[in-house]
Amino acid sequence: MYNLAIISGDGIGQEVMSACEYLLDKIDLEFSFEYGEAGFECFNNNGTTLPEETINIAKKSDAVLFGASTSTPGQPSPIINLRKALNVYANIRPIKSYKGVNCIRDDIDFVIVRENTEGLYSQNEYEDDGKMIAERVITRTASERISKAAFNLCIKRGQSKVTCVHKSNVLKKTDGIFKESFYKVANDYPQIKTEDYYVDAMAMYLVTHPQNFDVIVSTNLFGDILSDESAGLVGGLGLAPSGNIGDHNGLFEPVHGSAPDIAGKNIANPCSMILSAAMMLDYLGEWEMSNDMKNAVEKVIAECKIRTPDLGGDASTMDVTKAIVKELI
Ligand code: NAI
Ligand code: MG
Repeated sequence: MYNLAIISGDGIGQEVMSACEYLLDKIDLEFSFEYGEAGFECFNNNGTTLPEETINIAKKSDAVLFGASTSTPGQPSPIINLRKALNVYANIRPIKSYKGVNCIRDDIDFVIVRENTEGLYSQNEYEDDGKMIAERVITRTASERISKAAFNLCIKRGQSKVTCVHKSNVLKKTDGIFKESFYKVANDYPQIKTEDYYVDAMAMYLVTHPQNFDVIVSTNLFGDILSDESAGLVGGLGLAPSGNIGDHNGLFEPVHGSAPDIAGKNIANPCSMILSAAMMLDYLGEWEMSNDMKNAVEKVIAECKIRTPDLGGDASTMDVTKAIVKELI
């Protein structure tokens, strides 16, 4: 029995989470769900985007599932603060071409490892004499820790290269340390190839040569931007899952946000949420079920029959979910 913290959030976060819960109820594993509030609706109800109670539910769970939240003006981001509270420092975002999807190429299979605890997502912005200042902290400790996570993941995936992305020609001190830490850690992994690119060039290489990458490690903001770009190479945000992993906790969520443009229509693609749950099962050591879930998603997508509008179909969130469940049981 696994105790899961379920934090649906807002908009399609709630829709894809309901779909995911429906699926988890049907598979041959036992879960208990404990619910936590977060996000815009939560702020309207409780005056905070991330109540202490939600953090506590997340901390004592075996794993956390998060949907998506709508940003609240003047308030901190609940997901950034939750990642920090759980110290889930490695944001793992796999990107691959799925059969039957209009991808830029059919041989893309890489993962972005994004530093999750510092960088420009400090949310520490202030005004000083008419200047607006945003704090961007990069430490050796966090940079070495995320590089290590990237190299270990490269080994786990049986791949051969880790690419470090930064902007050290301009951000000489902060990204200087990030790059230096990467190459220091690389010394412990002589069997793995290394390279590094400036983020602007990397944004282009991802379009021109996405098949060349195995594991990409970057700072918080760059990792976030490159993830959405990468999702766009392989069919969009409806197929982009992620895991946030620390030494004691794991939090799993789709890369996408609350998508107000399609919220309430029951047409959100549930696959990124379901693939995130598959990543959670992998984290919990349920490798077989994790693989079965990924395969079921791949099969339904490849058949091109039941798919949501973002992939060119006219099926609903629950139609797709039920088709995936049918493959699983
Ligand atoms: P978004 O990721 O919500 O949507 C971007 C585009 O992708 C939209 O056209 C949307 O319809 C589409 N899309 C996203 N997920 C989809 C899915 N599962 N199926 C089909 N289409 C999908 O990003 P946007 O519009 O920039 O932000 C909307 C809100 O979400 C904002 O309030 C933003 O702050 C928040 N946000 C929250 C995140 C989180 O909770 N982790 C992450 C990113 C944004
Ligand atoms: Mg993002």
